[in-house]
Amino acid sequence: MRVFVTGGAGYVGSHCVRALLAAGHHVTVFDSLINGHRAAVDPRATFVQGDLLDLATLRSALQSAAPEAVLHFAGLINVGESVQQPLLYYRANVLSSLHLLEAMQEQGVRRMVFSSTCAVYRPPERLPLVEDMPRAPISPYGETKLAVEWLLSDCAAAWGLGSISLRYFNASGAAADGTIGEAHRPETHLIPLVLQVALGQRPDIAILGDDYPTPDGTCIRDYIHVEDLAAAHVAAVAAINPGQAEFLNVGTGIGHTVQAVIEAARSVTGHEIPARIVARRPGDPPALYADPTRVRQRLGWSPKWTDLREVVGSAWRWHSTHPHGYPDVR
Ligand SMILES: NC(=O)c1ccc[n+]([C@@H]2O[C@H](COP(=O)([O-])OP(=O)(O)OC[C@H]3O[C@@H](n4cnc5c(N)ncnc54)[C@H](O)[C@@H]3O)[C@@H](O)[C@H]2O)c1
Repeated sequence: MRVFVTGGAGYVGSHCVRALLAAGHHVTVFDSLINGHRAAVDPRATFVQGDLLDLATLRSALQSAAPEAVLHFAGLINVGESVQQPLLYYRANVLSSLHLLEAMQEQGVRRMVFSSTCAVYRPPERLPLVEDMPRAPISPYGETKLAVEWLLSDCAAAWGLGSISLRYFNASGAAADGTIGEAHRPETHLIPLVLQVALGQRPDIAILGDDYPTPDGTCIRDYIHVEDLAAAHVAAVAAINPGQAEFLNVGTGIGHTVQAVIEAARSVTGHEIPARIVARRPGDPPALYADPTRVRQRLGWSPKWTDLREVVGSAWRWHSTHPHGYPDVR
């Protein structure tokens, strides 16, 4: 299949591009490089530097690529920043998706896989999270993702768009061969931050509260390996039903505490990784983990990376060999 990948120079997108190529697809990456890295894009993919907010460039790139499906990763991802700058996030995540859908409708492209998030759910009263639980995001970031899910449902009804929104839990780890990995600036994700301590790039790791109702008092999250996420996308793109908007959790179904992640990093790196307890961050639910039953049934997908030490180990292979991330060739 010819596939058009927005945000394919970013963390999750770049791993998916590789998996799509390995599955025999022809890939065009469309990325503004606002947060992505040219060096993360597999050289076998066609690369177009462009912004989804620039409708003319987008139209022309989509026309040249003539894709049968679009995988839409592009967007801004920082929850805290979205609280400070909601207009920026609605523009970057909702308006850009609107442009993409307009261009797709014009050109008759009727398949999309969308990067959604567990942040669309209301902080849960019971776990694991099942797709039908109430959606009521507590951040503008989550709201923008939910707004796109609504758009996809409305386009399914109106012009037959088929889509699968994958609601990721915490994307983690790096390619097994250590050649591509996570390089966000600023970094806000736990595993890379912990590994930066092991690299001597920060003195310690701040634990945001140790008085949650969890076994060791720290928050529980579901760490899904980025290669497992990539495999879910490859399965999803082949499974889209015309005229249907579907929503699937992509997580392991297993939660790990912040302390457990730090312990795994200590064991993998051999570094003591000093930690310090600071105040809770407002809005952090004590625990989040997926019920992956629906994705297993619907796509025949299940995670291969189920050992937290191996997930952290894959991240360490990347960070220890690329301590400053990618060379930014822009
Ligand atoms: N990382 C996670 O744990 C996680 C969890 C849930 C959902 N998601 C979603 O997955 C997607 C990918 O996340 P990521 O961690 O790879 O982020 P990322 O920042 O590494 O990648 C996003 C990419 O999109 C590009 N981009 C942003 N705005 C653009 C625009 N207007 N036009 C063209 N390109 C643009 C950036 O340059 C970057 O390469 C995002 O939509 C994010 O919301 C990520």
